[in-house]
Amino acid sequence: MHRRVPQQFFDRIAYPVIPAFVVAGSRERVGGMLAAWWSQLSFKPLLMGVLIAPERFTYRLVSEAGKFSINLIDFKYVDSMPYIGDVSERFLVGKIGKAGLHVEWDGETGIPYIAESRAYILLDLVDRRPYGDHDLFVGRVLGAYADEAFRDGLWDLNVYRPLMYLGRSKRPAKVRRVYVTFDGVLRRELDFAGGGLERYSRRRYAVLNELRRVAKDFQDLEGDVFREKVLEVLKKYGLGEDDLEYYIEELRRGRG
Ligand SMILES: Cc1cc2nc3c(=O)[nH]c(=O)nc-3n(C[C@H](O)[C@H](O)[C@H](O)COP(=O)(O)O)c2cc1C
Repeated sequence: MHRRVPQQFFDRIAYPVIPAFVVAGSRERVGGMLAAWWSQLSFKPLLMGVLIAPERFTYRLVSEAGKFSINLIDFKYVDSMPYIGDVSERFLVGKIGKAGLHVEWDGETGIPYIAESRAYILLDLVDRRPYGDHDLFVGRVLGAYADEAFRDGLWDLNVYRPLMYLGRSKRPAKVRRVYVTFDGVLRRELDFAGGGLERYSRRRYAVLNELRRVAKDFQDLEGDVFREKVLEVLKKYGLGEDDLEYYIEELRRGRG
C-alpha cells in the first residue's frame, strides 16, 4: 500500500545517491563541494552533468576555470563532509585542506582532484544552462582514474564503501544530514535480458542494427528516401509510422 509523499520530501525519493565531489580552481584558489545531482549524460561524446546553484563558490570556480573534476569518496571520509557539503569556500578559505583532504593537480590538464578519492573524472566544461534554481554544468570527459578497488571495470565493494547521501532533517529543528554506505554486499549477476526475455531483446537490437546498417548508406538522414527506407524496416518488425520519428532521431544522434 503506497502513501502520498509530501512535496517537501519529493527530492528524497531518489536517494540514497553517491554525491559527486566537484573540484575546480587554480593554484591561487581551489575549492569544491558535494553534488547529489549529477549524472552521465551521453556515451558519444562522453558527457557528464552536474547541477550547481549560483550561490556556491564552486559555481564560480568551475565557470572561471572552464574545467573541473568529479571525485568519488569512500565512507571512511564521512566526517570530513560537513566542510565540503555544508560550509562554503567563500567563507572558509582552504576548506578542503581543513577537512583533512588533499588537492593534487593532473599534469596534463591542470585540473585539481582529491588525492584521497577512490576515483576521479577530469572534465572540460562545454555547456552551462539554468534549470530553475540550479545550473546544469556539462563536462566532456577528458580522462578518469581509479584506485585498486576498481577492477576489470567494476568496483570491488568489499574494498570500496561508497559514501552515499540519504537526506537531511528539515528546519527549524537542528539540521542533521544522513550519510550511509553498504554494510556487506548482496550481489547477483544476471544474464542480459535473462529470464526468458531474450527474444524481445533480440528483436529490439535487430531493428536497431538493421537501421544502423541502412543509415550507413545515407549521407542525409533528413530526406524522404531515407524515411521510406526506415519505415520499411520498421514494418518488417511489426512497428509503424508512430515510431518513425523516434528511430530517425536515434540514428541522427548516433552520428554525433
Ligand atoms: C550530500 C550533499 C549533496 C549536495 N548536492 C548539491 C547539488 O547537487 N547541487 C548544489 O548546488 N549543492 C549541493 N549541495 C550543497 C553544497 O555542497 C554546499 O552548499 C557547499 O557548501 C557549497 O560549497 P562552496 O560554496 O564552497 O562551493 C549538497 C550538499 C550535500 C551535503
